[in-house]
Amino acid sequence: MDPVDLEVEFNGLVEADQRIEPRDWMPDGYRRNLIRQIAQHAHSEIIGMQPEGNWITRAPSLRRKAILMAKVQDEAGHGLYLYCAAETLGVDRAELIDQLHAGRQKYSSVFNYPTLTWADVGAIGWLVDGAAITNQIPLCRCSYGPYARAMVRVCKEESFHQRQGFESLYALSHGTPEQHAMAQDAVDRWWWPSLMLLGPSDAESTHTSQSMAWRIKRFTNDELRQRFVDMVAPQADVLELTPPDPELRWNEARGHYDFGECDWDELRRVVGGDGPCNRQRLAHHVSAHEEGAWVREAAAAYAAKHSAVGVVAA
Ligand code: 3HC
Repeated sequence: MDPVDLEVEFNGLVEADQRIEPRDWMPDGYRRNLIRQIAQHAHSEIIGMQPEGNWITRAPSLRRKAILMAKVQDEAGHGLYLYCAAETLGVDRAELIDQLHAGRQKYSSVFNYPTLTWADVGAIGWLVDGAAITNQIPLCRCSYGPYARAMVRVCKEESFHQRQGFESLYALSHGTPEQHAMAQDAVDRWWWPSLMLLGPSDAESTHTSQSMAWRIKRFTNDELRQRFVDMVAPQADVLELTPPDPELRWNEARGHYDFGECDWDELRRVVGGDGPCNRQRLAHHVSAHEEGAWVREAAAAYAAKHSAVGVVAA
């Protein structure tokens, strides 16, 4: 088919809200943009296991430990679905991991903050998973089929993560005065990083307009930030915790909460590699990857042996 006809067909599919599948022709820019976003998303899920994994051995009860372990394992699963989705675009996951280690691909800024107390686990579930799900529900309608389908399952699990975070934080905020103070301190530290997880302001976002045109993104970063604040502000009242934003208030005329400006310099610094835990997070990922080399080699040898047996048997 003529390249012009291929592009017309692609645009027609996107405009008709049909899914683009791996077998379909797609512009190079669409493929590159998806690989960039899906890889960053996959890396975020995997690196995101570290801050909470830090508390598995110190969870305050067997019940909390079991829930936290299940949650951290879910994040590993999400990373794996996402690497699979990226591979349908013709890239190898080993190459994506090399790019992460070389600093050529990113992961979410939010995972570069430390988890200082047990209450951080609740605050991450409520706020970080809350922001993540606000961003990910529209991705279930992303124009690229494998990514959209992966998101359906991920979102189901993220809803459970947010509920468990809220429930865990509620237990603390309605506990002793010391527990309430610990929950408030965690919310003070995680509020702004969670808002920044949703990306730079629309004025600074380089990819939004093209990603919206291709229906990869359905909403802008600022639209999703507003949606997130509208969801969590009333939940903070139920928790009896106060978000650290003096400008946060209901605006009757707009039908939305007003809220203050994020510290965009901080986001730039953290994304640029200079957050509180950037070096630690990446170093841990590199060493875990190196220590796991023998597992990958054994799995590859096993697969090769089985395919050789299959060939002989055939
Ligand atoms: N942290 C790190 N980098 C960020 C960022 C953040 N919070 N927000 C934006 N960036 C980067 C972008 O990747 C881009 O850099 P690049 O060109 O080198 O890739 C640059 O900053 C400009 O940002 P844009 O707004 O133009 O980028 P996008 O249009 O891609 O929007 C996004 C950013 C909203 C994060 C979008 O990529 C997205 O929706 N990604 C999929 C979801 C995702 O990755 N979420 C991250 C958290 S996952 C998670 O939280 C897991 C859970 O279990 C908690």
